[in-house]
Amino acid sequence: MTDSTSKDRLYQDPALAQFYDLNNGWGDAQTFCVGLAQDAKSVLDLGCGTGMLVAAIAPDREAVGADPAAAMLEIARTRPGGDQATWIEADAGALRLEQRFDLIVMTGNAFQTLLSEDAQRAALATIAHHLTPQGRFIFDTRNPEDEDWRTWTPEASLRHLAHPRLGRIDAWNDVARDTATGIVTYQTHYRVAQSGQMFSAASQIAFTARDRLCAMLADAGLRVDHWYGDWLGSPCTEVSASFIPLGGLQ
Ligand SMILES: C[S@@+](CC[C@H](N)C(=O)[O-])C[C@H]1O[C@@H](n2cnc3c(N)ncnc32)[C@H](O)[C@@H]1O
Repeated sequence: MTDSTSKDRLYQDPALAQFYDLNNGWGDAQTFCVGLAQDAKSVLDLGCGTGMLVAAIAPDREAVGADPAAAMLEIARTRPGGDQATWIEADAGALRLEQRFDLIVMTGNAFQTLLSEDAQRAALATIAHHLTPQGRFIFDTRNPEDEDWRTWTPEASLRHLAHPRLGRIDAWNDVARDTATGIVTYQTHYRVAQSGQMFSAASQIAFTARDRLCAMLADAGLRVDHWYGDWLGSPCTEVSASFIPLGGLQ
């Protein structure tokens, strides 16, 4: 197993990154985080992707988006509001800024791109390093027990996207789970309906048990005030879709 997800072509290749926003629009995570950001003078988004959230909150506060994928950051910079934010090409575990933030977020299951425990611990250390004393953090990671990946089959995942220049895009996934490591490898395929042109990438993500998360958060000097089970604010249970800790420094 390697931590090569920062080289994931799904995010690093502009030809694939161009489909990200069509596939992942504004959702409950962004709405939830905008609510949290109301009290924050400064916000850091780790694994910010195409910067939808950061650009939305940038006009009213200091907003920084960090992501290792230059192709995603290029979309972030050029979206409306993107010129009012700061964008940094960086891995979540390696980022070290002088600045501290009132709110640090990591949405879209970006935490799951961290495949090893070392990489996860490094990202949590980055969060602890950059929080103000009263600052809050929040991130999401899918509950392994929910086995959401089982639905990422070509049949169940087929969807149609509307690209402004290429027209209809047929998109689907395929998936395999390594039983030894629990790492899920999934393929993402985009086919331009008119020309048949294909764009494909293979990505890997980790699914982390809640007790492991608890231990790593504590070791990083982070306290959890509330565990949510989804971005609608449902309580976290054994059958929740996600684990979403909201907290601050111990
Ligand atoms: C599913 S996207 C989520 C993007 C955005 N947070 C959202 O909610 O739409 C996952 C993002 O994690 C980024 N990523 C991959 N490896 C990373 C790492 N080591 N540190 C930080 N971000 C990483 C990818 O480049 C990608 O932009």
